[in-house]
Amino acid sequence: MKRIVVLISGNGSNLQAIIDACGTRIANGEVTAVFSNKSDAYGLERAKQSDIDARFIDPKAFENRDLFDTELMSQIDRYQPDLIVLAGYMRILSKEFVAHYLGKMINIHPSLLPKYTGLNTHKRAIEAGDIEHGTSVHFVTEQLDGGPVILQAKVPVFSEDTPETLNERVQTQEHDIYPLTVNWFVEGRLSMTDNNAILDGKVLGESGYASD
Ligand code: GAR
Repeated sequence: MKRIVVLISGNGSNLQAIIDACGTRIANGEVTAVFSNKSDAYGLERAKQSDIDARFIDPKAFENRDLFDTELMSQIDRYQPDLIVLAGYMRILSKEFVAHYLGKMINIHPSLLPKYTGLNTHKRAIEAGDIEHGTSVHFVTEQLDGGPVILQAKVPVFSEDTPETLNERVQTQEHDIYPLTVNWFVEGRLSMTDNNAILDGKVLGESGYASD
């Protein structure tokens, strides 16, 4: 069984999708711990409800990012994880943290990367008049939201959309593609080499795996 550690900051709906997929779509993986940098993250409750260790680490207790990340790393490593999954973890990572888990840490970002790195992606897509938006799963590298893309899902943008309605549409896709991607990794089909995402021995392109 491959051990998965999930980092969150909020609701944890993607965490829930992954927990629910363990034992089914993710047949050989289990979420062994969930960490949050926010004490009130609902995802911590979700973890507890599934008997998964749920830990809050308070950034305010540390003088700087490096010290916080060092503590987080040492707590994560007690679980000897095979994969680190960032699921709405809204904190910039230190260089050391990224280097420590390079090739075994993935993130989901609510845009069609390389478009709209950073925050407020739904609002920015609407304001730009985009007719298409979406979400991307990617390996985490030192470049913020810039690591190699593994898989994207697209959704239409309608004229009456608000950031909230668009978010709902995007998240429905996230709950499908994130467990799928986690499973690829757990099954040993997915890896990262030389800043490329590799699936079944093939180097993926800029938009990751595309079925068409
Ligand atoms: C997700 O939509 C994810 O794409 C986004 O946060 C949300 C978390 O929702 N991540 C980022 O913006 C990272 N830059 P959840 O807590 O319900 O899974």
